[in-house]
Amino acid sequence: MKTSIRTLLARQILDSRGRPTVEVDAWLEDGAFGRASVPSGASTGAAEAHELRDGDPAHYAGLGVLKAVANVNGEIAQALGGIDALDQKRVDDQLLALDGTAQLARLGANAILGVSLAVCRAGAQASRLQLYQRIAQLCGVTAPTLPLPMTNILSGGLHAGRGMDVQDFLAVPLRAATVADAIHLLARVRHAATEVARERNLPTLLADEGGLSPGLESGRAALQMMVEAIGRAGLKPGVDIAIAIDVAASTLQAQDGRYRFAREGVERTAGETIAMLASWCDEFPVVSIEDGLGEEDWSGWADLTRALGERVQLVGDDLFATNALRLQRAIDSRIGNGVLVKANQNGTVSGTLAVIAQARSAGYATIVSARSGETEDAFMSDIAVGSAAGQIKIGSLRTSSTVAKYNQLLRIEEHSGAAYAGIQGMRGRHGAC
Ligand code: PGA
Ligand code: ZN
Repeated sequence: MKTSIRTLLARQILDSRGRPTVEVDAWLEDGAFGRASVPSGASTGAAEAHELRDGDPAHYAGLGVLKAVANVNGEIAQALGGIDALDQKRVDDQLLALDGTAQLARLGANAILGVSLAVCRAGAQASRLQLYQRIAQLCGVTAPTLPLPMTNILSGGLHAGRGMDVQDFLAVPLRAATVADAIHLLARVRHAATEVARERNLPTLLADEGGLSPGLESGRAALQMMVEAIGRAGLKPGVDIAIAIDVAASTLQAQDGRYRFAREGVERTAGETIAMLASWCDEFPVVSIEDGLGEEDWSGWADLTRALGERVQLVGDDLFATNALRLQRAIDSRIGNGVLVKANQNGTVSGTLAVIAQARSAGYATIVSARSGETEDAFMSDIAVGSAAGQIKIGSLRTSSTVAKYNQLLRIEEHSGAAYAGIQGMRGRHGAC
């Protein structure tokens, strides 16, 4: 068959942190080609699909991915040769079956996802479709949509040497007619944040996602700096630009279940953490809180949802790990109202798109997200548009691995004539606090 997989070829390349990652080339019988590479997190959830690293201290301090590369070039290439690349579900099911473990630990989720992405891209080329159109076809989406972007401005946590306790403070454009307008507004805020940092003699060097790492002592101080940067950009906080937060609370939680805000010098129970987040929503134009509590703190999450779920978007990242079973548990017990979607937490294109569909049918918002270690591959932008996810979360408007994703949105907007979701991508939850 013309669209059968002829060759799969993987190699080790480097990501934005200079760490090895997997890149895969897929060739089909008719000459169609797809290349994709795999991102990597730092604040990884325990339930994520398994990233296979070599563990050889003499090679990239143990972080090499030569075993995953060999798994693609050997066992996977052999098993997938001759399968129709247009049957993405079959390709992905075959990959899962071949691995045989729940978290894809044998062959490595990085090997498996690299193949799944590359085959999807080759399938798009063979079908003479743009990648976002191919994704839309796979999801049964008839109206692809440009997503509302949220952009990292200030970083802490594991992305910035724990200089601040909370991992991410992001800007969300509330009033933009197109994704190009939205990106322009975000660029103004990012630029103004550097000016504010410079004036206050705070560091202006870049954190892992291209944001600033001002090392402020508390979340409240970071939120004040966000408001200042928005104002400095000539924009109105809460009117033009709102704020999103990723607490990444799993990285703060101690054995005893309490949350250690080490920079601030304070320990909080789940209840106290919820009270802190509620007070931030009272004082600042916060529209979205991600991982406000830890990944196994299901009862805390239930309380958090009761306390703030009507007011803000409550996003599970480590909590859901783009995993259908974990998401279903949350849906059944009404926990959270938004899902962060990271293909490498799941392991395959089909699995990732299924989680988006599952979230959507339960009324949860979906936010396609980058990892803190990225490559120049902008596949996620096509997933966000093609699945009509509504939102996308990308690092700051700095460094080419991050900017690649924004640039792809600009190209798709020009090419597709698709509508921009705007704040509706958050399903009307904006402006509540
Ligand atoms: P990670 O961070 O890629 O390091 O997990 C991104 C996030 O937590 O959303
Ligand atoms: Zn997160």
